[in-house]
Amino acid sequence: MVQLTSPCAVLFAFQLIALSAAAQVPLFPQSHSEGYQFKPLLHLPGISPYFDAIGSGLDHGAPRNCEVTAASYLIRHAAIYANDDDYEKYMEPFLKKLDSTISVASGKKRKGWEGPLEFFKKWQTPIPDPDNQLEQITPQGVKDSKAVGKHLMSRYPKLVPTTKRVYADKKSRTQDTAKAFIKVFPQKVELVEMRVENKTSFYAQVPHKACNAFTKKPGDDELKQWMNTYTLPIIARLQRFSPVELEPTDIMGLQMMCGYESAINGKVSDICHVFTDAEWMSYEYGWDMKYSLMVGHGNPLSNYLGFPWLNTTSELMAKFHAPKHGDTTKIPNDDGERFFLSFTHREVPPFIATALGLFNSSNAANEEFPLDRINWARSWRMAELIPFLGHIGIEKLTCNRVSIDPEDDKEYIRIIANSAPRPLPGCQSGPGASCPFDQFYEMIQNGMEKYGDFDGVCRNNEKDKTEL
Ligand SMILES: *[C@@H]1O[C@H](CO)[C@@H](O)[C@H](O)[C@H]1NC(C)=O
Ligand SMILES: *[C@@H]1O[C@H](CO)[C@@H](O)[C@H](O)[C@H]1NC(C)=O
Ligand SMILES: *[C@@H]1O[C@H](CO)[C@@H](O)[C@H](O)[C@H]1NC(C)=O
Repeated sequence: MVQLTSPCAVLFAFQLIALSAAAQVPLFPQSHSEGYQFKPLLHLPGISPYFDAIGSGLDHGAPRNCEVTAASYLIRHAAIYANDDDYEKYMEPFLKKLDSTISVASGKKRKGWEGPLEFFKKWQTPIPDPDNQLEQITPQGVKDSKAVGKHLMSRYPKLVPTTKRVYADKKSRTQDTAKAFIKVFPQKVELVEMRVENKTSFYAQVPHKACNAFTKKPGDDELKQWMNTYTLPIIARLQRFSPVELEPTDIMGLQMMCGYESAINGKVSDICHVFTDAEWMSYEYGWDMKYSLMVGHGNPLSNYLGFPWLNTTSELMAKFHAPKHGDTTKIPNDDGERFFLSFTHREVPPFIATALGLFNSSNAANEEFPLDRINWARSWRMAELIPFLGHIGIEKLTCNRVSIDPEDDKEYIRIIANSAPRPLPGCQSGPGASCPFDQFYEMIQNGMEKYGDFDGVCRNNEKDKTEL
């Protein structure tokens, strides 16, 4: 048996150190965690600053012998101070309680906050002027937009300069995001406002605003029930550090403020450190459930709302380059644009993902979002799709593995979500798990046959609707 003190062991240890300094660093037992650290910001569906998704491990660049020859992206707007609902339901009630503890005598400091909540004695709200700030993008949001714009430029250096116009609806948060984006493009780009009259693009890019039957209600009851369960142990843990009574909505509001405050200030909020890893996972699960029922596989409208953009994009891309695919007369003229950008809201990337069968899971439906426990194995993880500036893109790949003759070119489609390729279930035989173009085109045509009756399911033609 080798003793630790033997010269042999010392030499062995020395060799290990020498080895670890070489280019290929082997994994030693001590480094198995690879510095793993839980990051709450990666588990906040819908309200975290942008981050690239890891995806399935496929190369983010074009596969070997392929080039991206066209791309179309739908991008969620950049960070806003807060969404009205989130603020009114969860954050504002807590902020009111917080400020009820201000003591004038101690120079505006708050009293009674202790332990992990002690920082609230001096903490300042990142939303000092809610009347003017809610729903508006933040200065950090403008910076982040430019960064994502630059990222797309570096990803598509030949395509981005062909962009002539980008689209956004009338909301200032999408307009402002678009403006920041196009500032970093080298050419002059026109920002076009999508209106209801521009039916095809409006339906494609903000379908939920064109659909009378769509509401944000689905999932509210389930989320409430989940919140009332998972926050109880958290309240039990934190109550003794708080001078005010904590309720489930306060815990939810605090967890939300971790995301919003971090996105507003561009650095991790102190609030993020209040909760344990498991408490964040409960928060994340609740919102994944809500989004699934509202804009995902759990809402029968989702497919209908996701297909118009897929239809427009596949028709558009069918027209470019030889060989031609499908009926190319539907898209009037080709002005050479090969990179398409539209700015939209958090609901839309999930509709598209649902229509494509992404983030779906093999669970039986009643096992997908149980209310008495977390479904850890779910693939519906919206933190990876809809952070601020979250996006879904369709790339057209032109590949030629056999010659330099364009006659031998083959075309494929790849779906990108927050930089990472997401292989399509049922269509991934191409390079880098891409989908042969004709097969994709057919898939979308079939989808349109099944889910093309947008106005019908949305009950858009019923005259007796009064709330419009
Ligand atoms: C949108 O509709 C308006 C009004 O009908 C029209 O003036 C405008 O050119 C349309 N824009 C696009 C991009 O089609
Ligand atoms: C599909 O997209 C094309 C091109 O934009 C459009 O002409 C067509 O009407 C769309 N189909 C449906 C059913 O909306
Ligand atoms: C999602 O998964 C369920 C369960 O496996 C399946 O029945 C359904 O067809 C899938 N949806 C899509 C769009 O692939």
